[in-house]
Formats: sequence, C-alpha cells, structure tokens
Amino acid sequence: DLAGFTERNGTWYAEEIPLSDLAKEFGTPLYVYSKKVLTEAYRAYDKACVDSSGKRRARVHYAMKANSNLAVIDCFKKLGSGFDLVSGGELARALAIGADPKSLVFAGVGKSAHEIAQALKAGVKCINVESIAELHQINRVATNLNCRAPISLRVNPDVDAQTHPYISTGLKGNKFGIAYHEVLKTYREAALLSQIDVVGIDCHIGSQITNTAPYLDALDKVLELVTQLKKEGIEIHHLDLGGGLGISYGDDNPPDITEFTNTLLNRVAERGFGHLDIVLEPGRSLVGNAGVLLTQVEYLKPGAEKNFCIVDAAMTELMRPALYEAYHGIVPIQTKQITSSTYDVVGPVCESGDWLGRDRQLAVEEGDLLAILSAGAYGFVMASNYNTRPKPAEIMVDGKNAYVIRARENIADLFSSETTLPD
Ligand code: LLP
Repeated sequence: DLAGFTERNGTWYAEEIPLSDLAKEFGTPLYVYSKKVLTEAYRAYDKACVDSSGKRRARVHYAMKANSNLAVIDCFKKLGSGFDLVSGGELARALAIGADPKSLVFAGVGKSAHEIAQALKAGVKCINVESIAELHQINRVATNLNCRAPISLRVNPDVDAQTHPYISTGLKGNKFGIAYHEVLKTYREAALLSQIDVVGIDCHIGSQITNTAPYLDALDKVLELVTQLKKEGIEIHHLDLGGGLGISYGDDNPPDITEFTNTLLNRVAERGFGHLDIVLEPGRSLVGNAGVLLTQVEYLKPGAEKNFCIVDAAMTELMRPALYEAYHGIVPIQTKQITSSTYDVVGPVCESGDWLGRDRQLAVEEGDLLAILSAGAYGFVMASNYNTRPKPAEIMVDGKNAYVIRARENIADLFSSETTLPD
C-alpha cells in the first residue's frame, strides 16, 4: 500500500509535503522516498520474526540491490536489519554505514576472488555459494588469508515461482544455485575442505512472487536436505529463505508481509526445525512502494495511431517497463478538470523501448507533473547514463522534512574521467 503517498483534495503528497513543492525545489526527474513506508514495511516483517512468547525466530537481511542509497540502508540498519549483498560494491556500502559484518550475507553466481577476499576480511556472517567451482575458489582464498570461510550452499529447488522469466531464479534452467540433486554431494565435498565451515543452507526462487505455494514447496525440499545432512553429521545452523515477495503495482495481489512471513515460519516450526535461525532477504517488498519517480510533461504529441505524452524521465531513470514490460501506475500529481486522452508515456531517449506506461488515460497538459508509482525498488539502482543523461536526485521525506540523499549528477562529471587521445 502507498500509505506515505496520498492524494488530498486533488493534490498528491509525500507524507506531509506536496509533491509539487519537491519538484519545484529539486527539479525533475526526481526520486522521492517515504521513510514512513519503508519503516512500516520493515516492522511488518519484524512482527512475524518474533513469536508470541517474544522469541526471535527470524531476521531480516534487506537485499540492498533493490535500493542501496546510503540513507535507505542506514534507515534499515537502525531498524535492526542485516543485509544481503551481491557485490564488493554493496559490501563497501554496508561497511560505510557501519553495518555489523555478522549481519551480512553475500550471494551471487560470479563473485571474484577479490570480492571473496573482501568479504572474508570483513568477517561476513555467510557466503552463499552458487557452484562447486566457487566453493573451491573460496577455500583457496581463505587458505591464502589463513582464515575460515563460513558458507551456505544456495539450493536450486527447481520450483516454478510463477513470475516473469527474467526474475525467476529457482528453475533448473536458471543460472542460479546448485542443482537439487547435487546439493548433498556438494555439502560432503565442502565438509572436507580445509578452510570451509558449513553454517547454513540457502534458497531464493525469484522476485515479484505473489503466491505463497511455491515458497512452501521450496521450503519443504530444502528441509528434506537439512534432515539428510544431519544424518550424515553435517549440521546446519541457519536457513536462508531468500526474498522475492511481490508488491502491488496495479492488479497484482500479493499476500500481506506479516501473514506471508508467519506462514513460512510456522511451516518451519511445524516441520520440527524451529531451532534453526532463519534469514529472510526481502528487497522489493521493503522499498518498492516507498518510492515514486516524479517527472514533468515536456510535450503532448497526438498521432494517428497513438498519442504520446513525452516526459523528462526515461528508461534511463526507470528501466523496468523497457526491460520487463513492467506496469507502474502513473498519476498527475495535481488533478485538473480537463478532458483526458489515452497516451503512451514515453521518455526522450532514442529507443522505441523507451516507454514508461502504455495506453494510459490521463488528464494532462504540457508542464504538468506526473508521479510514476511503486518506483522505490529496482528504480534508481538500475538507472544509467545512456544518452549522457545525468542520474536524477533522490529525496527522502520524513514527515514535514525532505532530505537530499543523493544530489542530481551534473553533466561535466559524467565525462570528467574520460580523455581524448594525444594529437
Ligand atoms: N535474494 C536473492 C538471492 C536475490 O537474487 C534477490 C533478487 C533478492 C534476495 C531480493 O528479491 P526481492 O525481494 O527484491 O524480490 N530487477 C528486477 C528484480 C531482480 C531481482 C534479483 N534478485 C525487477 O526490477 O523486477
């Protein structure tokens, strides 16, 4: 839900500030986040992470790839979150805000030796291993550093998460995780390696998942492995269930965060694994609805087949429609009593794929401001400088206050590290 972004008497607000004030002060395109929304989403998870007797049964490790702005991750840190990382760059961000290394888990199919070394030196809680080759690489790096490497294997459970093929990760044909039938063998191998400490097991089946059933299937398959491992004397201490819970962009209907988390954690307990520490790695469901992208209408261009509403944001600011044909709600931030028309909302970039919304009924004129909704996750972080476009500013609203949490890039900086050849 969009509790932090509300319409009152025809004007859209971010918490207590009209979005038009923010556009006037900071320009467009502009990312605006609500601290309240991300805080409420975190608390919804945390509520389910603590059982009725007050015992903590799970911990949230925010998947910062969804939105890694330092202010965003710092808010989560202060709320008690750990982090899920996928690169040395994200590790550096976590360390920059003073995150406890023991609250960090590190995933990814292609971690370099250098990134593995950085993670081991920092003392992360766990490296989630995605192949046998990587397992051996970690052992080699740990040998060189003369340290131990805590690991989980990421299981590919081969379940269909029923989401977009580009964001589904738990199928046999995906590049992610270790094939289900090879997991036991790989744990046996891991247990024999001199520097490796087996600490957990991990699984992540995809993103924007709106159905709990595939999670429960994957969970059962992973718990089966934990039982087998115990029989062989390989003890698993934590179970990482990944992220992936979807949000509502339009007519999607995902389960409520607390209810969803309770369903998973109750299943773990019912199956007799309540003693395991559970790690959750949500990204989108913590920040997706905590952000909007503000953009200004540059031109209206009526046409024989299509009317175009050309705005100053583009696929460079929000790539999801171009990449996944993703739907984002688009609303004028000031309601006007004028006739509406059907438009494709498009950006200035020279690509036909540069669109933000198709066939939208909008009552707009040139110069009006639009909010592109649910843009808090995989928005700014996937932005690019294509067409030498500076990345937009990011603002965090907290009640009546607005903070610039990332300044708008300036054009000279975009090519300041480039050099021409000598004459
Ligand atoms: N854990 C792992 C291992 C992941 O690969 C991901 C996301 C997450 C956690 C967080 O998933 P979430 O809760 O955010 O669904 N750019 C795409 C989404 C890519 C997701 C990649 N992995 C999009 O814009 O839809």
